[in-house]
Formats: sequence, C-alpha cells, structure tokens
Amino acid sequence: MLYSFESLNSTSDFLKENFKNYNEFDIISTKIQPKGRGRQGSTWFSEKGMALFTFYFNLPSHIKVDDITKIPIITAISIINTLKNMENLQFKIKWSNDIYLNEKKLGGILVEQIENKIFIGIGLNVNNSIPEEIKNIAISLKNVTNNNYNLENLINSIVNNFKDTFFNFCKNKHVWRDLLTEINKINYLKDKNITLNIGNELIEGIAKNIDINGNLEILYNGKIVSFSSGEVLKKRFIINFDSQKFTTNDIIDLKNKGFDLIIILFISAHISQKEINIFDDFCKEHYLKNEKIFLNNSENINTYLQSLCKKYNAQLHTL
Ligand code: BTN
Repeated sequence: MLYSFESLNSTSDFLKENFKNYNEFDIISTKIQPKGRGRQGSTWFSEKGMALFTFYFNLPSHIKVDDITKIPIITAISIINTLKNMENLQFKIKWSNDIYLNEKKLGGILVEQIENKIFIGIGLNVNNSIPEEIKNIAISLKNVTNNNYNLENLINSIVNNFKDTFFNFCKNKHVWRDLLTEINKINYLKDKNITLNIGNELIEGIAKNIDINGNLEILYNGKIVSFSSGEVLKKRFIINFDSQKFTTNDIIDLKNKGFDLIIILFISAHISQKEINIFDDFCKEHYLKNEKIFLNNSENINTYLQSLCKKYNAQLHTL
C-alpha cells in the first residue's frame, strides 16, 4: 500500500522510526522532503515533482551477507526495467547506486540495514525541473520527453518490480547471472577512466565489468582488481572551447576515454551567433556538460578558468 504525504523531512528516516506501523513493501512517499539524505552523509535536494519514497522488507533468513551487498544494483535494474516500460531511453546504472540518463544523474538509491530489515529509499527526477546550478550533472525524465508522469503509478510499479526481481533472486541462483548480464549491458562506468575513493586511498584506473559478487572491476596498475565499495569519481576536466589547441575530435576522443568534461565557451564582443550555435549543437549532440560565460574586455580568461576548476572540482585540460 502506498502512503502519500505532503511533506516529510526524509521518507527513509520516517519509515525507520515508524516501521512498526507499516507492513513490508508498504511505501512511504512525499511531495517535498526538507531533510532528504543521500549516500555518504550527503544532502539529497528534493524538489516537487520528484519521486521520493522508501519501503522496507525483512531479509529472508537464508540470505548470505554477500547477497545483501547486491541489493543496490538489484534495485537499480528494477527501476530501469520499470522506466523502460514507459520510455524507450538509454537508462544506465552507475555502480553501485545511481541511475543515469544522457550522461547525467536521473536518480539515486539509499540502502540501509537495521538488524534484519532493509530500508530502500529512492529519489528520481521525474516531473521536476533541474535547478540551474546542477543542470550540468542532473537530468529529469520530463527534461527529455516533455511528458508528465503519474508518480504514484510509477512508484508502485518500481516497488512491485523490485519485489518480483528480489524474490526470484532469492529463490533461484541462476537469476543473478541473468541479472548481471543485463546490468553489465547498461553499465555506465564501463571503460571509463575513474578514480575510486576507498576512504584512505584513491584508486585511479579504468572501470570494467561488475563482477559475480556485485563488485566493480577496475583495470589498475595493469591488473583487474575488484572493489566492493567506494565513491566513484570520474576524472573531470574543464576545456576552453575557444582554445586553438582543441579540435572537436580531441574533445570527443577525451569523452570516449571516459573523462567527465565541462566545455566552456567564453563569449566576448568578437564572437558571432553562428559560433555560439555551433557550440550549442556540438554539446547537445554529444551530451557534453557546458557553460557559456560572458566576458568584458578587461576580464582575464585564466582567472575565470581557475575559478571554474574550483567550482567543478576539476582540472584544466591543456593538450
Ligand atoms: C544518493 O544518490 O546519494 C541516494 C539518494 C537517495 C534519496 C532518497 S529520496 C527518498 C529517500 N529519503 C531520503 O532521505 N533519501 C532517500
């Protein structure tokens, strides 16, 4: 059963405190969520129009610890299979807990365990528009399709899909292999240059498949090593589009190598509308994050580039 609230600080916190009043797979959803939580202690900005919900279930007694760690990706594939029934888009799983679309984050999953209970909190950008400050990294379904979606139907379908998928996974060992094949077909990080933050160490390498244990394989120092957890940071570069050093092919090449690029166009008096259109079309065609900056004659491009590096936590790329 779905319980809809106008406002809850956090659906996950609410259900964790009140689960005794609800049944397994009951859904707590809210329109707004002033204290939404993301993974690793981050804040989850919750706008009206998002699907924001949490449900819980008791772990089957026979389930192994190794299987519990697979729950985030089983949730991710259940979300994607539900979305696929609605829209034929290239949804991707970014190991281990994110849903991506057109190179941007569409949603996130927060899995928390208290004793034998698993709480799954999901936040998806559906009918909401994305605030300007994060337009480069986040996307909503409506942004792409211009459609409005019935959030209650979507949320119910996701939870039903998860329930079926998870019960099949628990019943039959072979189900995991099939799921893994499906998951690896839409593995967003595959072949991308990434940095994995594993607490006290940063592992730089090339992401490969998600392995049989649900861990991420990374080609690291010439060997494939699997990592069970960690925060994935794609190496991010700022590129000055106007720079004589770059051709569009260089940029596409860097993108194909899996770097996270932010392309900057400085707009001064000498630039024509045609050049601006070329920039817009190029970024749109290749799903490149970008920013246009209007310059006065006196302003220094290098100072700007340095501040953009800080803003995006990126390095300036100079070929
Ligand atoms: C992440 O990407 O870091 C996970 C985000 C999870 C957000 C959802 S929104 C509903 C539920 N309630 C919360 O406070 N968080 C989760």
